[in-house]
Amino acid sequence: MGSNSQAHKDIIPFMMFQIGDQFDHFQIRSHLATGGMADIYRAYDIMNGKEVVLKIPNQQMIGDPAQYERFQRELEVTNTLKHPTLQRGLGSGQFNRTPYLVTEYVEGRSLRDIITQDAPLPPETVLPLIERIADGMAYCHENNVIHRDLKPENILVRTDGQPTIIDFGLALTKDRRRVTYANLSPTAGTPDYMSPEQIEGQRGDARTDVYALGTMMFEMLAGHLPFEGDSYQVVVAQHLQAPLPRLDRIKPGITPQIAAICAKAMQRDPDDRYPDMRAFLSDLQNPAAADVSILAKGTGKAVPFWKNSTLQAAAVGVLILILLIVFAVAAQGLRP
Ligand SMILES: Nc1ncnc2c1ncn2[C@@H]1O[C@H](COP(=O)(O)OP(=O)(O)O)[C@@H](O)[C@H]1O
Ligand SMILES: [Mg+2]
Repeated sequence: MGSNSQAHKDIIPFMMFQIGDQFDHFQIRSHLATGGMADIYRAYDIMNGKEVVLKIPNQQMIGDPAQYERFQRELEVTNTLKHPTLQRGLGSGQFNRTPYLVTEYVEGRSLRDIITQDAPLPPETVLPLIERIADGMAYCHENNVIHRDLKPENILVRTDGQPTIIDFGLALTKDRRRVTYANLSPTAGTPDYMSPEQIEGQRGDARTDVYALGTMMFEMLAGHLPFEGDSYQVVVAQHLQAPLPRLDRIKPGITPQIAAICAKAMQRDPDDRYPDMRAFLSDLQNPAAADVSILAKGTGKAVPFWKNSTLQAAAVGVLILILLIVFAVAAQGLRP
């Protein structure tokens, strides 16, 4: 009993609210997740009797102007964009100086859980799901919003099979310039869906989301990621340099056309990818017409290792160390 309650404390040490607590006009029903910047709760809106989700940033984040600015952007994006494939924003508020976001509750499983439990999935299941996500993302891009953090954790699939895109916490809006991905990359979570240009520290554009969606499509069909490794560095190096495995060769039942669609979305050079989500969508809707010649070309030239910002930082570190040693040795030599 004693060790149980200790374990409970260990698991959610930063949870700000307990079940049954009241926060503004909401009653906390359950704790859904603790993310990098916020806690996510299922709650009951006392004013209208609706089940909602509250995203409440942690105190540390509220004190950091850059993070605060990002949360404000997430509120704005979530409450402005309206599309059947996007999580529906229900408003935002501020209580005891804490800002919060209210969204509809999505009943279902995350795409992460679906992949863990059921992948590899057949093309008949994967293609319609990727199409819906591509359609939602095309709408975002047409409204000048780039998600930049598309991954299975940020897709919820409703019990009726419809996907919902959530979490615009890293989104880039074209009219704002402040936050660059370069400042975030090492802490931004998994590199598994990161495009080569993001790895290089660029802000990315619509084609960055195309790459991430292509990676998810690969993972769902193959049952594993295209580029895997035990460390951040290994995964990143593979995105920059390793050849993309051919889906039609590793999975029976996958046509070269479907493999080509995935390879086109995952081209290393953004200029070689689908130019936008609508072009990707159009091939997904008519896979038989996809151009398979891309399979012979692979995914393009390897990106030189020195363009990788993590390796650049490491190289600078090593250089500084060498200089320090040289200075120390020289200083020794100068001693009378
Ligand atoms: N509207 C929702 N309905 C159900 N679960 C949700 C909802 N929003 C978030 N979640 C759960 O909370 C997790 C984290 O939410 P997310 O917005 O992605 O936060 P973070 O920015 O911390 O990643 C999701 O992966 C999902 O499991
Ligand atoms: Mg998330």
